[in-house]
Amino acid sequence: MSDLVQISFEGEPISARAGESVAAALTAHGIRGLRTTRSDADRGLFCGMGVCQDCLVEIDGAPNRRACMTSVAPAMTIRRQHHGHNGTGAVDPLPPAAIDDLPVLRPELLVIGAGPGGLSAAIAARKAGVEVLVVDERRLPGGQYFKPVAVQGDDVMPPDAQHREGLALVRQAIDAGVVIRSGVTVWGAFKAAAPAAASDGALEFVASAEKAGTMRIVPGAAIIATGAFERAWPVPGWQLPGVMTTGAAQTLWLTARRLPGRRVLIAGNGPLNLQLAAELSGGGAEVVAVIEAAPRPTHDLAAVAAMASASPALVAQGLRYHWQRLRRGVPMLYDHVVHGIAQTADGLRVTLQAASGDGAPRVLETDVLCLGHGFDPSNELLRALGCRHDHDPVQNRLVPRRDADGRTSVAGVYALGDCTGLGGARVAMADGVLAGFAAAADLGHAIGPALARERQAAAAAGNRHRRFQQALWQVYGAPPLNIAEVSDDTMICRCEEVCFGAARAALADGHIQAGSVKRATRIGMGPCQGRYCRPLLEALITDRCGTMPDEFSGFAPRPPVKPVLIRDLAGR
Ligand SMILES: Cc1cc2nc3c(=O)[nH]c(=O)nc-3n(C[C@H](O)[C@H](O)[C@H](O)COP(=O)(O)OP(=O)(O)OC[C@H]3O[C@@H](n4cnc5c(N)ncnc54)[C@H](O)[C@@H]3O)c2cc1C
Ligand code: FES
Repeated sequence: MSDLVQISFEGEPISARAGESVAAALTAHGIRGLRTTRSDADRGLFCGMGVCQDCLVEIDGAPNRRACMTSVAPAMTIRRQHHGHNGTGAVDPLPPAAIDDLPVLRPELLVIGAGPGGLSAAIAARKAGVEVLVVDERRLPGGQYFKPVAVQGDDVMPPDAQHREGLALVRQAIDAGVVIRSGVTVWGAFKAAAPAAASDGALEFVASAEKAGTMRIVPGAAIIATGAFERAWPVPGWQLPGVMTTGAAQTLWLTARRLPGRRVLIAGNGPLNLQLAAELSGGGAEVVAVIEAAPRPTHDLAAVAAMASASPALVAQGLRYHWQRLRRGVPMLYDHVVHGIAQTADGLRVTLQAASGDGAPRVLETDVLCLGHGFDPSNELLRALGCRHDHDPVQNRLVPRRDADGRTSVAGVYALGDCTGLGGARVAMADGVLAGFAAAADLGHAIGPALARERQAAAAAGNRHRRFQQALWQVYGAPPLNIAEVSDDTMICRCEEVCFGAARAALADGHIQAGSVKRATRIGMGPCQGRYCRPLLEALITDRCGTMPDEFSGFAPRPPVKPVLIRDLAGR
């Protein structure tokens, strides 16, 4: 049996697995509504990665704790968080600190993000002799691709090959002498035009950790590897408890071996949905169906062949997922998307429609709906530092300007992995090696012949995996969200509960910039800080006014780029 800890939710005792998140424990007990909004609507686990803030609960009297990012602890008392209620217990106060009293860390190289990309960069730089500090807000290193299993016991499915590869990468980093600090959220990034004193760096970051409080980090150079979060698919009902991202469901399974529900419907675009179907059906869930927005892969056999030539192993893995799905009788419906979601007495009723919009809708019943429509980059720190970006009109996202080794337009700042555009874990790892060596060389460390060969091999691997990704997304090519057809009663801003109708009315009133719509409607003012609504609002503005987004449109990146406890700011 796994180690159990006793916690309570709304006064009812619950057994949780030691090491799992509060969200995993509550989900395992069928608890979906975690907080209520201003309009008294229920919200629950949505992103599962600390971004949406829909899982905020009160823990031991303290409000605003993200259930997805907080581990269970013995005797923890958890309550649903009601809008406007600020907790019942005394919060452990930290002594107020003036900015000059904050502890200052001065690593030679700071890496933000302990995913495959950040860890690979840290290892490369360390091999060249750099003193490296890696920080990550998650409880354990590994990022999204290498999320480790956080629970143990003979009733828990053991780590799989992906887990083991991640553990080996973390071990390699630690053995190389990289310092990894988990549970540290970087929420401020600043660039001095001219440092006031020689001991001041040109770059400065501010971060907070649960017990250590707030700290300043003044590195010689910084590698930003902050990954991505899942893109919104706005349809009526996408804010209901039980609707979550594919990544959230996968995190429950990969880290805590918990299923998001008994019946699970998975919909969206891309191979991650298929992987989740294989994982959850293998774990005992009834996967109702996988709904894929792209047409059947046979529509582009040339792209399938290009994928196979770039990475036969990844194609074989994809075929294995398909085989597992077929063997377990999970149907797959191509060329369809979710069109609406309604709550029923015992779950969700999901309406599907052909991606073209033609034909009669279909309806499926499920407990949980997982939506996975690709990713948007977590580029707030890069933007806050003033790194130049270009808009990619095909993917509708910003891409930082970088040279082949990951150097951004700001001296001493390097970027790689999913925060620069979605290339997947293999591209992130290859680019990590290049950026790690580039940072080392720029910091004055020699890159000897052995490391130069390693660099060359990483460049070749990166190019190969980029070719794979290009062919993959050709195979998975799907029509983009037709923003003009999203109904007025669909929520655009989940946090502030503002619908598309209000956004369109503001545009019609002459508010044609995101900031102006924000002030008129409150879109983007909530705790997710515009991560989900901003791209939708920009698409609406493009649709109405024809103006394409650029690096200065949207909402300005301001500290704190991630929500931070007021007690961590109080002394400032
Ligand atoms: C939710 C999700 C699930 C995914 N699942 C799969 C999968 O099953 N299979 C697959 O092939 N690909 C998957 N992907 C894609 C794949 O994980 C990525 O391509 C790969 O992990 C990218 O590596 P990375 O190092 O760039 O970023 P990530 O692995 O995303 O790592 C970024 C890290 O940065 C940290 N971070 C971000 N902001 C801050 C901050 N301000 N302060 C401190 N730390 C910060 C995050 O906590 C995270 O650990 C998933 C992506 C996401 C977002
Ligand atoms: S589900 Fe926890 S922050 Fe999104």
